[in-house]
Amino acid sequence: MKRHLVILGAQWGDEGKGKVVDLLSADFDMVVRYQGGSNAGHTVMVGGEKFVLHLLPTGILHQHTAGVVAQGMVVDLELLVKEMEELQQRGLKVWDRVFISDRAHLVLEYHKLLDSLFERKGKIGTTLRGIGPSYMFKYGRRGLRVCDLQDPDRTYKIIKENIEFVSDMCEKVYCENHKLDAGEIFERTMENYKKIRDRVADTTRLLLNFGGRVLFEGAQGTMLDIDMGTYPYVTSSNASALGLSNGTGLPPRYFSEANFWAVSKAYTTRVGEGPFPTELEGREGELLREKGGEYGATTGRPRRCGWLDLVALKHAVDVNGLDGLIITKLDVLDAFEEIRVCTAYEVDGELIDHFPASLSLLQKVKPVYKTFRGWQRDTRGAKSLSMMPSEALEYIDFIQEYLHVPVVMLSTGPKREEYFWLYEPVGKEL
Ligand code: IMP
Repeated sequence: MKRHLVILGAQWGDEGKGKVVDLLSADFDMVVRYQGGSNAGHTVMVGGEKFVLHLLPTGILHQHTAGVVAQGMVVDLELLVKEMEELQQRGLKVWDRVFISDRAHLVLEYHKLLDSLFERKGKIGTTLRGIGPSYMFKYGRRGLRVCDLQDPDRTYKIIKENIEFVSDMCEKVYCENHKLDAGEIFERTMENYKKIRDRVADTTRLLLNFGGRVLFEGAQGTMLDIDMGTYPYVTSSNASALGLSNGTGLPPRYFSEANFWAVSKAYTTRVGEGPFPTELEGREGELLREKGGEYGATTGRPRRCGWLDLVALKHAVDVNGLDGLIITKLDVLDAFEEIRVCTAYEVDGELIDHFPASLSLLQKVKPVYKTFRGWQRDTRGAKSLSMMPSEALEYIDFIQEYLHVPVVMLSTGPKREEYFWLYEPVGKEL
């Protein structure tokens, strides 16, 4: 194993990264989130207790780790403080282990308002957490950063100007008046800032000077990446490996010391709008949703479900330069008589085996399936290869052969201990 590890989502998010990161971070000293914000919902079961983390890196649940909220994230300070306080109240001393980048941008009330207004025209199905508008302000060079909060006058000025801009937009584009009070938003922001002020750091320097092992925790998934995903039905950050360098401020060379692994379910889900070639709309889709408990951790929305799409997964392997895949929720397929995987797309009688950029093309593709016999046996909680039905192993073998990437681990249930390695990583801890 290399010194550092990157864990990414290989699909449209919700692959089960929370559990995997929680498990693997036991062997790392620092855990880092570097893109997205409270749109993420990473669920972990520890000792029968359920934790859902939205902003903090999941690995913070281990007492020995330090956690970084890096510069590429957009941070809802109120939620961050709440998340830290709640963990603290539940007996997990996180406060002194969290470092928040001074370069991270903030999500404020007016971003959330814009998120809901934008959704009325050209719906994306966002989480309404203000993520897109906050990145929009960042790239439009009118964002408010954590470091700005050191200077209350500057903070107030930025908030005030932004509110004028947003109010104008509400009035002129949406013909609506929204009461946004600059003074109130400013006060609340400063109150929250005072609570975390001593946790703010130049996290790039912190990481550059850190001698231990670091785990980088991607949020959402490759197919929701702003550049490589199903644009415009994506999130507003680089949720693939492409986001690592700008999200952390670390030079690309740093990551030559990292392994790149991604998590994929044994089938596919997505929430929100957008293309989903292998979506199942009938009874099979409902069965996947029901068995897999496929409801959003952040919004509670029912997830759309379908068969595993190897064309999309190969795209994730290539874009991220993966050297390992972790498969979760294979047990959800236990009851199926037949299981299908998509091996190519068909468009107007022609076969394509790569994931197209064009939305118009994606809307026309039809999946070409290979059918597998189901195993119809309980695999939940399996702890070794010998406990797996041969049909399930055939399924896994096919996936790794198609993708040319080893499946390194199978997660066989939500609990920390429900997993096993298929390929024992060389080198001490892991
Ligand atoms: P946003 O990130 O809230 O702007 O939402 C954009 C798209 O990404 C929507 O389709 C959301 O459902 C999806 N999305 C955002 N975060 C997550 C996540 O953590 N898991 C799965 N889908 C997500």
